[in-house]
Amino acid sequence: MKRRRQIYEGKAKILYEGPEPGTVIQYFKDDTTAFDATKKATLDGKGVLNNRISEYLMSQLNAIGVPTHFVRRLNMREQLVKEVEIIPLEVVVRNIAAGSLSKRLGIEEGTALPRSIIEYFYKSDKLHDPWVSEEHITAFGWAAPQDLDDMVNLSIRINDFLSGLFLGVGIKLVDFKLEFGRLWENDYMRIVLADEISPDSCRLWDATTNEKMDKDRFRRDLGGVVEAYSEVAKRLGIMPESVQAESRGPVLVR
Ligand code: TMP
Ligand code: ASP
Repeated sequence: MKRRRQIYEGKAKILYEGPEPGTVIQYFKDDTTAFDATKKATLDGKGVLNNRISEYLMSQLNAIGVPTHFVRRLNMREQLVKEVEIIPLEVVVRNIAAGSLSKRLGIEEGTALPRSIIEYFYKSDKLHDPWVSEEHITAFGWAAPQDLDDMVNLSIRINDFLSGLFLGVGIKLVDFKLEFGRLWENDYMRIVLADEISPDSCRLWDATTNEKMDKDRFRRDLGGVVEAYSEVAKRLGIMPESVQAESRGPVLVR
């Protein structure tokens, strides 16, 4: 097999040099971590599901004119993306109180928020991804005011679109995390959606039972993590064939 140059290895993905300049291959691992990687596990099939789910959501967003780094899925675990300069921020959009917002502000999990709220976290494992304000972002030059404006406008559009898409398959989009990058095209720069959108980066609750269908199942030791991710894929109508085949159980041969 041809060897590829590894650009970066993160907690859940590996980036390799792409086939053409300006492209990168994103490889989805089965590894999962929480709490700054103090908790780790390998969940068989998770990478395949996240690759497929992220492909689907990014393609849907591309189709409505949200610019993303996504080009196409290459195989079960890999997708081709455009090379971008990642902005060191996690942009979190929240519709329902949960997780760190509930803890920080003492709002019970499951409380509908008066309106969608956007928060920013500075990407730094060493500092445990601290919560930061627009003031910090522009003062320290992590993003220019115009970049931040673009990220907010895109985040609102993404939230509106994905909330509807998930609700249509019986899932509440509680909150999610986005990452953006700068895409250079000659002398022009555009802010585009990067990284992934998957049950690793969203809180997804069943619309009728509120059952968790996301990474909180791992964070909170609820079990059935891959099964929940599969259910998300199934409801979106994109269950990858091999995972589907594995979980179908014995088949009667006539
Ligand atoms: P939080 O409530 O822990 O701040 O998480 C908000 C959202 O961001 C939730 O959907 C999970 C996602 N998230 C990540 O994608 N990566 C992370 O490292 C953390 C802490 C949260
Ligand atoms: N992925 C993050 C970590 O390992 C945390 C999380 O998603 O909860 O630090």
